[in-house]
Amino acid sequence: MLSELAKTHKIYIGSDHAGYDLKMAVREFLVEQGFDVIDVGTHSKESCDYPDYAKEVATKVLEDKDSFGILICGTGIGMSIAANKVPGIRAALSNDIIAAKLARAHNNANVLCMGGRLIGKELSFEIVKTFLLTQYEGGRHERRLRKIEHIEEEFCKK
Ligand code: RB5
Repeated sequence: MLSELAKTHKIYIGSDHAGYDLKMAVREFLVEQGFDVIDVGTHSKESCDYPDYAKEVATKVLEDKDSFGILICGTGIGMSIAANKVPGIRAALSNDIIAAKLARAHNNANVLCMGGRLIGKELSFEIVKTFLLTQYEGGRHERRLRKIEHIEEEFCKK
């Protein structure tokens, strides 16, 4: 149940102007379920740049292992590209319920990205619910996630 997860997990949420309305709706939905929701912005519909919010949410999710991130732009694409630049972030673009389920079950995604110009509020609530309640399956998927880490190590050497 979402209310059980809300006792242990925080949600960091962010959007650009194109995702603002859906972000506000999702934020309210999660607060109603009892989550501590930290909204990193944007705080208006004035035009802004999605990578700023992707970076902020990604950073917070890495700092807080008992958390998930939610990022919303027009399509969810820009947010997912930007968030996935941060090593350790597995951001999944999920504008449908099956993608949200498999993003957790197979990819152990820690950030959910959605498109405010592509999906409605009710669908987004179902996507969020599915994402948060689906457990990572581990097993054969673990080897693949390790390989993703190896790519990060190879290309992100400081
Ligand atoms: C903003 O116009 C739009 O480009 C942005 O929200 C997002 O869809 C990018 O991927």
